[in-house]
Amino acid sequence: MLIFPKNFVWGAATASYQIEGAWAEDGRGESIWDRFSHTPGKTRDGDTGDVACDHYHRWRDDLELMKQLSLPAYRFSIAWPRILPNGRGAINAAGLDFYDQLVDALLAANIQPYVTLYHWDLPQVLEDAGGWLNRDITNAFVEYAQVVVKRLGDRVKQWGTHNEPFCTAFLGYRDGVHAPGLRDEAASLQAAHHVLLSHGLAAQAIRALQPDAQVGIVLNMWTVETLQDTPADRAFAEMQWQKDCGWYLDPVLRGQYPAQAWAAYEGKVPAIQPDDLKIIAQPLDYLGLNYYMRALYDGPRRAAKLPDAEYTEMDWEVHAPGLYRLLTKIQREYPAVPIYITENGAAFKDTVENGAVHDPRRVSYLREHIAACHQAINDGVDLRGYFAWSLMDNFEWSHGYSKRFGLTYVDYATQQRIPKDSFQFYREVIKRNGVD
Ligand code: FCB
Repeated sequence: MLIFPKNFVWGAATASYQIEGAWAEDGRGESIWDRFSHTPGKTRDGDTGDVACDHYHRWRDDLELMKQLSLPAYRFSIAWPRILPNGRGAINAAGLDFYDQLVDALLAANIQPYVTLYHWDLPQVLEDAGGWLNRDITNAFVEYAQVVVKRLGDRVKQWGTHNEPFCTAFLGYRDGVHAPGLRDEAASLQAAHHVLLSHGLAAQAIRALQPDAQVGIVLNMWTVETLQDTPADRAFAEMQWQKDCGWYLDPVLRGQYPAQAWAAYEGKVPAIQPDDLKIIAQPLDYLGLNYYMRALYDGPRRAAKLPDAEYTEMDWEVHAPGLYRLLTKIQREYPAVPIYITENGAAFKDTVENGAVHDPRRVSYLREHIAACHQAINDGVDLRGYFAWSLMDNFEWSHGYSKRFGLTYVDYATQQRIPKDSFQFYREVIKRNGVD
């Protein structure tokens, strides 16, 4: 039995657009994900988050689920357009009330809220003004953070500024597969810079309002690995790490962009003002890491599927040792910082049989990744907690509802929630504070 340190935080995560629905209710403004998902051809089967898990109306039932799970911590995000429908200025009281009630109910149930300010649902009006390409958005983000912290900061201690800036910038502005759907590499690097700058500015603003706030950022990371181990492969892996992971981790923890990647992006690098990197590198109370898989390359191309490896419904390789290697790499190579795994989980094809969902592959995925966390702690990594993705099945961005990551199955036709076997498994992990 692998027992975790006494204060280790067990949690589950969700995000506003993926679960809330109620997209046009109670004064909520339009977000870039409403616009994107309502545009034909952008999401699988034209799925949208209009209803999603209807969590906006059913949050009390979902809180019951969390209690059933004996969940000590819940990571969720706030929908900016619910709070500030015009992006800036007038506050929508109903939006703030929604999260206010949720926070009170969580605390009453002894569940610690971990609140993410930005999990991709930018107000569309701000996108119309240039989105993350317009430097002024950093001021808008600070104003938004201040409004939320003023209301919730007496009860919420754990703040995350951004979820996965890589996805905001690279998937949204370079690859075009996330909102707002641009395909322009130089633009994506500028967007990334503004996201990072807004993180630093918001961290300052949150601490000014709430001195005991714990402020972090959540980055999606993976190890870059190669099938062959030649000097060329090693050089390639280092460059790819810098472009995908170091591009976000280095500014935040080291106050600089990684040099080789910077040189490789010649002609496309972002415009930066003199103090930007100092602002971005605010001391962090924690670093959140979302880990799903390693990135395996065959020469400079992504490796074909390995015959003896397992893949999820996303076609992501199941590879828990990569999580261990990622944690120990960051511990070895970067300045010390407490770490949380803020997301980890897997999509598999789930079916309901006699009212139950048996998901043995998700159970082993969780078991192996939790064991990797334990090994990392034993080897000196300052890992403070683990959040499963996700509390329940939800809108998986461009994949719509076709990918189920939940510990809880959601029947979208009836909105019935059915805890899967992995839910019971995770409940035992939490109760025993460990895994076999
Ligand atoms: C992460 C996102 C999260 C979810 C998982 C599967 O990139 O943060 O919203 O979609 O992937």
